[in-house]
Amino acid sequence: MHIKSVNLETVCGVTSVLPENDKVEIAFAGKSNVGKSSLINALMNRKAYARTSSQPGKTQTINFYNINDEVYFVDLPGYGYAKVSLALKEKWGKLIEKYLGTSKQLRIIFLLIDIRHEPSENDKNMYDWIVHNGYNPVIIATKLDKINRSQRDKHIKMIRKGLNTVEGTPIIPFSSISKQGRDEIWELIEFTMNG
Ligand code: GTP
Ligand code: MG
Repeated sequence: MHIKSVNLETVCGVTSVLPENDKVEIAFAGKSNVGKSSLINALMNRKAYARTSSQPGKTQTINFYNINDEVYFVDLPGYGYAKVSLALKEKWGKLIEKYLGTSKQLRIIFLLIDIRHEPSENDKNMYDWIVHNGYNPVIIATKLDKINRSQRDKHIKMIRKGLNTVEGTPIIPFSSISKQGRDEIWELIEFTMNG
């Protein structure tokens, strides 16, 4: 898609009312620091519009990016971030759950998993939630540039096994450095927008 405009339209904290958007929403979920905001920047062709950080826990709100007035990218706070209190973790969890459970426009939930690591309990729970709530899960294996090419298939198998994926779940390897995987992800988004 040709990106004409991007706009961080809505920012929701734990006490905010979630927006009722009238365009398709695509959400990006995953562990803190896995690369959600970086992927969103790559898809938007922006270097740093979505704020990223080498420190986990950067995105602490649900951020709705309006792309071309055609589709929303929804950047979610990462889970599993150790440094915040249990009380705040629970509040974030509830906010994410509320959003995922009530959005009428949500069409795809991308679940991001670091290609180097075995999926965590939180990753498995997220994956199962996506399947049980009737969404077609799409896994993005991030930070592809951090492993050798020869290791790629082995790591993808590890993720598939760790999540115990249902048939038909795609795993798309992606790097925000090389941008490998970007076009394939956009194809999926456009297919969904038009379908
Ligand atoms: P939270 O907002 O804390 O949940 O994190 P996030 O999932 O949004 O991660 P973010 O995009 O902020 O990236 C975290 C760190 O990983 C940053 O230092 C990024 O530069 C780095 N990073 C993200 N994607 C890649 C990638 O594909 N390759 C490499 N080498 N680094 C990446
Ligand atoms: Mg982020």
